[in-house]
Amino acid sequence: MTDVYRFRRRRKSAAMRDLVRENHLSCDDLILPIFVQEGISEPVTIDSMPGVVRYPESQLAQAVQSAWQLGIKAVLLFGVSEHKDDTGSDTWSDQGLLARMIKTAKQAAPDMLIISDNCFCEYTSHGHCGVVCDHDVDNDQTLANLQKQVVNCARAGVDMIAPSGMMDGMIAAIREALDTAGFTHIPVMSYSTKFASAFYGPFRDAVDSTFKGSRNTYQMDPANGREALAESLEDEAQGADLLMVKPGVAYLDVIKDIRDHSSLPLAVYHVSGEYAMIKAAAQAGVIDEKAIVLETMTAFKRAGANLIITYYARDIAQWLQSQV
Ligand code: PBG
Ligand code: ZN
Repeated sequence: MTDVYRFRRRRKSAAMRDLVRENHLSCDDLILPIFVQEGISEPVTIDSMPGVVRYPESQLAQAVQSAWQLGIKAVLLFGVSEHKDDTGSDTWSDQGLLARMIKTAKQAAPDMLIISDNCFCEYTSHGHCGVVCDHDVDNDQTLANLQKQVVNCARAGVDMIAPSGMMDGMIAAIREALDTAGFTHIPVMSYSTKFASAFYGPFRDAVDSTFKGSRNTYQMDPANGREALAESLEDEAQGADLLMVKPGVAYLDVIKDIRDHSSLPLAVYHVSGEYAMIKAAAQAGVIDEKAIVLETMTAFKRAGANLIITYYARDIAQWLQSQV
C-alpha cells in the first residue's frame, strides 16, 4: 500500500477536518418565511408542519424581532387573506394585508431585510397565481396587476421583491414598474426556476388554500433540466438581482447547473413538503433531526446555493450558535 493516495490523512482529527472543509453554513445564509393571517387573534398551528404557525397581525412585530435576536437577517412574508376576489386586488391596495405586513415588519426590526412573496394565489378566490381567463391564468393581465402590487410593496417600505408566480416577462415588468415609480434601488429575487411540485402540499395547508387545480400551465415540469437553466438565465437577462431554485433536495442538479452558468446570487427554497418529511420522520423517532437538517443545508451550499429559504431557519440559527 505505498502507491495509493491516503485521503484519510485529512480526516484524522476534528481540527483537521474543520480546516479542510469546503462548505460552511452560516446564519447569514438564511431567510425565514413568516405566515400572517387576517382575522385571528392567536397563532394557529399547521398540522402538517409542526413548529410553524400562522401569526395574527398583532404578533408579526414580535415574530420578526425574535428572529432578529436569533441572528436571522431576512424574512419572507406571506399573507393569508380574508379579502379574496377574482384578481387579488387586495395586494395593490395601500390598506391591504401585504402593505400592512411590510410596514409592521419594517417598523419592528428596521435592520432586518423584509422580503415580500409577490404573487396572487393567497388573495384570489380561485387560488390561482393570477387572473383566470378561459380556464387558464392570463399572463399579461397578471403582469399588469403584478406591477401595481410591487409598487404598493415598495411604497410600504419593502427591502426586496420576490415574485413567485412564474409568469413570463415578470422580471422585466417588475423592473420597469419599480424604476418608473422611482424605486430603482429595490432588488428583485426571482423565483426563477420553480417547479410544479408535490412538495408544496403542506404549504397549501399553511395558507389555507382554496386551490384545487394544478399549476402545470405556469410552473415548470419537474422532468426538465435544460429548461430549468433557461428559465433562470432569462430572468437574469430581464434584470433579476438574485435567482432561485424551488424546491431544493430533489433539484440539486438544477442548482449546480445554474450556479455554473450565472454569476448572480442563487437561493434555494427548502419547501414545506421537505420540512414536513423531516419533521414526520423525526417525530417517528427514525432519524436525528438536527443532523439531517444540517446535512441537507450543507448539501445545498455544496450544490452551489448561496442563500437558503427554510422553515428551519430559527432552529438552525440556534444550532449554529451552540456549536461555538
Ligand atoms: C405560491 C407559492 C407556493 C410556495 C410559495 N409561494 C406554492 C404553490 O405554488 O402553490 C411554496 C412554499 C412551500 O411549499 O413551502 N406562489
Ligand atoms: Zn402563487
